[in-house]
Amino acid sequence: MTNALFSDDAVPLGLLRERAFNLRWAQQPPDVIPLTAADPDFPVATAIQEQIIRYVRDGVLSYGPSEGLPQFREAVAEWMRSTRQMECPAEAVFATDSAAAAIAVVARASLTSGDEVLIPDPVDFLFQHTIERAGARPIQVRVTPAMDAEEFIAAAQAHFTPRTRMLWLCNPHNPLGAVYSREWLKQVAEWALGRGLRILSDEVWSDIVYAPHRHVSLASLSPEIARSTVTVYGFSKNFALAGLRVGCVISTDPEWRKQIIAASDASSTVFGVSVLSQIAVIAAVREGRPWLAEFLRHLEKQRDYVAERLSQWPGVTVNPPQGTYVIFPCVRHLACGLDANADESSGNEAERLCEHLREHARVALVPGAPRWFGPGASGHLRISFATSRRILQQAFDRMDPVIKKLAAANQRL
Ligand SMILES: Cc1ncc(COP(=O)(O)O)c(C=O)c1O
Repeated sequence: MTNALFSDDAVPLGLLRERAFNLRWAQQPPDVIPLTAADPDFPVATAIQEQIIRYVRDGVLSYGPSEGLPQFREAVAEWMRSTRQMECPAEAVFATDSAAAAIAVVARASLTSGDEVLIPDPVDFLFQHTIERAGARPIQVRVTPAMDAEEFIAAAQAHFTPRTRMLWLCNPHNPLGAVYSREWLKQVAEWALGRGLRILSDEVWSDIVYAPHRHVSLASLSPEIARSTVTVYGFSKNFALAGLRVGCVISTDPEWRKQIIAASDASSTVFGVSVLSQIAVIAAVREGRPWLAEFLRHLEKQRDYVAERLSQWPGVTVNPPQGTYVIFPCVRHLACGLDANADESSGNEAERLCEHLREHARVALVPGAPRWFGPGASGHLRISFATSRRILQQAFDRMDPVIKKLAAANQRL
């Protein structure tokens, strides 16, 4: 039975069309279904709504402390200790305006011009963008969903130079959906520490993991690894709070933390993160567990459904994600049907397929274009499935005939 929280009728389409931006409902023509930005279509947990209302009714909305409300820091630290056995004192948590802002402030605090940072390819474009904004150079290390630690280390080692300063990881991985095991993380962290590298571990997706996989926080592996790691965490993916722009940096190295806080200007001019956003997070981590558990149950069924629908597309290969609510099929062969003369290595076949699906099926997806995820994403599509079954089914019912026609016209399939 479908839980009412995530039923077909739970999706507030009218409100989403007004309020959901970033390639989603509010930025699409009314007849287009967006399975684009990874942002859920469901309302947030009632406990969060109620705590925000209560706080506003009290009527005091003064400046908060620069590093975050003490209750926010303690509530997030307790969440980290109880959900992933991370040694996390409250003072290790620094509130930021989002996970994206957390990544940016770590980059500003930790990198200077000429520094090189190893990042996975593909990965969300904000890694590359943020490193470049800090004046440093992102160095892409090609990754695949099944890559073991030895292969990853060999690839990273091949790009290691005297200018390499950091390794940035994304776990669970957007867009591949890979969830890294304890052993994988341990081997990679030991390699990085052995080369004197610091690590940024983006764990914004870490509550969206499907059994039998389990999220392991890099910083939970050992105090030594924790000292060389900053964990970036957020509340957009797990608790659907993207519009509140709130996240955090977790660092157990007091010196590094001081540099991060200084780089944020929180103590000098900015004075911290919106208190309402922090109140929402406190409610989420203290009272939102049942909502999150239901959300995950819904997502797992959606994942299986979308993988099954994609498996019927000729010439398409797909790895069902172990975590995240995005799926990343390879459509390179199929997309060549769009143009008989197309060269499969042109790199923009996924963009052309996206445009074709948007025009003929009225479904918007994210192409695996280098500008979104790096060159390693070419030939893929990214599909977000954090919506209702009805919407997902409609989207595939619209896309299937378009795909079938394309496959029939494609001599190579
Ligand atoms: C890997 C990764 N990191 C960071 C973010 C940004 O999250 P936030 O909304 O908290 O800025 C995203 C959002 O898609 C993401 O996928």
